[in-house]
Amino acid sequence: MTAKELRTRYVNFFKERGHKEIASASLLPENDPTVLFTTAGMHPLVPYLLGEKHPLGKRLTDIQKCVRTDDIDEVGDNAHLTFLEMLGNWSLGDYFKQESISMSFDFLTNHLHIPPDRLAVTVFEGDDMVPADTEAEGIWRSLGLTEQQLFRYGRIENWWGPAGQTGPCGPDTEIFYDMGKPCCGPDCGPACSCGKYVEIWNNVFMQFKKEADGSFSGLKQKNIDTGMGLERILMILNEKTNVYETELFLPVMTKLEEILTQQDTTLPERDKRIICDHIRALSFLLGDPKKISPSNTEQGYILRRLLRRIIRLFKKAGIHENYLCTLSEVIILQYQDTYPELKENRDFILEQLQKEYLLFSKTLDDGLKKADRYLEQLGTGGTLSGELAFKLYDTYGFPIEFTLELATERGCLVDMDGFYQKFKEHQEKSRQGAAGKFAGGLADHNEQTARLHTATHLLNGALRKVLGTEVFQRGSNITSERLRFDFSFDRKLTTEELEQVSAIVNEAIRNNLDVVLEEMTPEQAYEAGAVGVFSGKYGDIVKVYTIPGYSKEICGGPHAKNTGELISFRILKEEASSAGVRRIKAVIGAE
Ligand code: ALA
Repeated sequence: MTAKELRTRYVNFFKERGHKEIASASLLPENDPTVLFTTAGMHPLVPYLLGEKHPLGKRLTDIQKCVRTDDIDEVGDNAHLTFLEMLGNWSLGDYFKQESISMSFDFLTNHLHIPPDRLAVTVFEGDDMVPADTEAEGIWRSLGLTEQQLFRYGRIENWWGPAGQTGPCGPDTEIFYDMGKPCCGPDCGPACSCGKYVEIWNNVFMQFKKEADGSFSGLKQKNIDTGMGLERILMILNEKTNVYETELFLPVMTKLEEILTQQDTTLPERDKRIICDHIRALSFLLGDPKKISPSNTEQGYILRRLLRRIIRLFKKAGIHENYLCTLSEVIILQYQDTYPELKENRDFILEQLQKEYLLFSKTLDDGLKKADRYLEQLGTGGTLSGELAFKLYDTYGFPIEFTLELATERGCLVDMDGFYQKFKEHQEKSRQGAAGKFAGGLADHNEQTARLHTATHLLNGALRKVLGTEVFQRGSNITSERLRFDFSFDRKLTTEELEQVSAIVNEAIRNNLDVVLEEMTPEQAYEAGAVGVFSGKYGDIVKVYTIPGYSKEICGGPHAKNTGELISFRILKEEASSAGVRRIKAVIGAE
């Protein structure tokens, strides 16, 4: 099946069932300053989900362009993408679980002919706020799904939204496709990241609104919000093993291969996928009716990150010409019938790509040489100082995520705290001088990362409470979107354990606790029960951050002043990192 056919079939299926088709909105959300991009089909519909009357009625369907920055790290695997097309249908206080689940099942099995026994579904298992979703489970059973195909999970897996920091949300039922691989172990299921199960469709039962203070209130109406990833379903229907083999990526992947062959070079598969994913996302962002362009702040900073990453990968392959435009032209050509804005904004897209290439290409060469030298001197296991990371940012335009990536490739770490410290100092200086040129994206980034850093301490403390004090931090990586925390532990955490951990962190946030900074000798810190590295790398005096009752750690900071600033905490994923080390990804405040 082609993408075009799939889009038409989906929309027609819902139109035949009383839905009105709406157009895809811009990638820049209209009414929500708390998120950078439109991340789901429901985003433009928030006012209507909250009860405002939609001019086209209570049943809607569309295909929405989405950009998800949470997943940038995962891009290059089989199914995660920065840009995606989301097929969606909504009931605004009209039908509810029975009709929604039945329609999804009917579309997948009777219209797309997916064998029902290849599906697996998850439902909400209940907590102290919302009971177990036995209704959704009963509906799935009545449709013929067996016990082996049904999985019950808690809030981490089966609760969706809000898209920003506040707004509509609720329990969901997620539909997965079983790729046919064997289970990776006794705990294998849809929540596992081994690749056996690929999520294809999410049906959210939106009955709640999350308020700014983190509490939930009931919505005036019960809504349905669904989203299905076009790229993933296309992959499954055409029996491909990853989204890059679908017709949506084939032309751009082929063009990239051509370029590499012409230049007598090659790149690892993952890098090729990253290039193709990023150029597609960039083409849509630059080509958006709101014309988003690269800059040092907010959305523009993300564009810059994507762009500079591609340029670096080309350099890695020894290619010094600009092929961004060549690749983008393939994307424009492929999508322009469905998304005419790409054709209309073609000149702008290509102009911006060219401009950014010229701006960055030369300094990148110099910067890479410098970075190579720094990292070589450090050797595997070394930590790049905040000062050098800041120099790469300030003098050579390296986004910090980019420096992290280079360091990781060499088995090195980056002193992120030191980087933000330098960044802040610089910002203060430039504020005193001319106007604050650096305000915006990275400045917010700074405050947000300080909060995420505090969340990391709370998480560490909570893990030690729930799993025992043999848990130790093994690594930490923070971007403006999420935290990633690696710790020593030798098995998968159960849903109950994850929920306990999450509850402890959220309790600390709700208690609005001041984060206390003290300076002391390492011996005093040890006596006081602080965790952290006590080795000689610390000076005679160390900083100890305490969140009374939850955490005490030796650390350089910076941190939030008060835990309340975190608003709320949510674990996105728990998975193996390496032997004996587990990894948790989590977000605060938003989503
Ligand atoms: N809004 C839901 C999602 O993005 C459907 O998964």
